[in-house]
Amino acid sequence: MMRILVTGKNGQLGKSIHKIVANNEQTDDFVFVGREELDLSNENNITRYFENNVFDIIINCAAYTAVDKAEEEVVLANQINHLAVSQLAQIAKNQQAKLIHISTDYVFDGESDKPYIETDETNPINVYGRTKLAGEKVIQEVMPTDAVIIRTSWVYSEYGNNFVKTMLRLGKERGELSVVSDQIGSPTYATDLAKAILTIVHKKNYQDKGSLTEIYHYSNEGEISWYEFSKEILELADIQCSVNPITTEQYPTPAKRPKNTLMHKKKISGEFSVSASDWKNSISKCVALSKLKL
Ligand SMILES: NC(=O)c1ccc[n+]([C@@H]2O[C@H](COP(=O)([O-])OP(=O)(O)OC[C@H]3O[C@@H](n4cnc5c(N)ncnc54)[C@H](OP(=O)(O)O)[C@@H]3O)[C@@H](O)[C@H]2O)c1
Repeated sequence: MMRILVTGKNGQLGKSIHKIVANNEQTDDFVFVGREELDLSNENNITRYFENNVFDIIINCAAYTAVDKAEEEVVLANQINHLAVSQLAQIAKNQQAKLIHISTDYVFDGESDKPYIETDETNPINVYGRTKLAGEKVIQEVMPTDAVIIRTSWVYSEYGNNFVKTMLRLGKERGELSVVSDQIGSPTYATDLAKAILTIVHKKNYQDKGSLTEIYHYSNEGEISWYEFSKEILELADIQCSVNPITTEQYPTPAKRPKNTLMHKKKISGEFSVSASDWKNSISKCVALSKLKL
């Protein structure tokens, strides 16, 4: 039996992992924590928590994810996405635990015209991306073995605030919406990512101690813009609302967004037999669940 810590229990990914674990018989002991139990903004709090808690695997789903606000809250974003990650990696190493950490497509500048592979050059164009990249790098330094870093993109779920829920709400309130059509990527249903993580955790090649720390890319399959995504969401929910495509320039935000963040998934599928379903299949499942809550 493994003792597995999941941080960020109130976030999209943390909740999605929790739902799967709660609905399936477990041979492992899962512990879910939020900022109440483990506040990643506080170094002493992190140290104290792990004095009394020892794990075989730490899955870090917590992060500072407010991309625009991060432009102002640089110190806090860096603390949670970089310095706390450094501490978690050091603790995992001391406890001889494995670490699964989630990173982002925003480590890239989005200027490539082809899907990114894991070894492509990073060049984040906003504070959030820079702090997440610093988190990746510090894990690789502190834990050259036994860590898995999964970069994902455009995460949505039936939980919390996200693009899907915003579209469902605005679509009902307004007859017309304008959505950016020149940022291309792949959405990721948090439930699919949660399943992928739980699959990896139970793979023999993951559980072997001493395996090299690696970065992997994971998202749903498909290539779309936010505009196309919004049209599909509204159609699935039977919401009558017209959507106008606009450019990034027409929708200025405090943080710059990369234009193309498509990522190749062949490394993760080759290593752990994790497959990603098509984005349309996944969004239909999420809209069906989200509609129930509207
Ligand atoms: N969302 C996306 O589109 C996206 C895209 C690419 C990568 N990712 C990455 O995917 C991972 C999961 O993202 P998500 O969408 O599940 O994020 P999320 O819904 O924003 O959840 C993040 C969680 O981190 C927690 N957190 C924030 N500050 C904390 C602190 N000081 N101490 C402890 N916990 C703290 C939050 O707690 P509270 O609930 O208490 O605020 C929240 O529950 C993250 O690593 C993120 O960077 C996300």
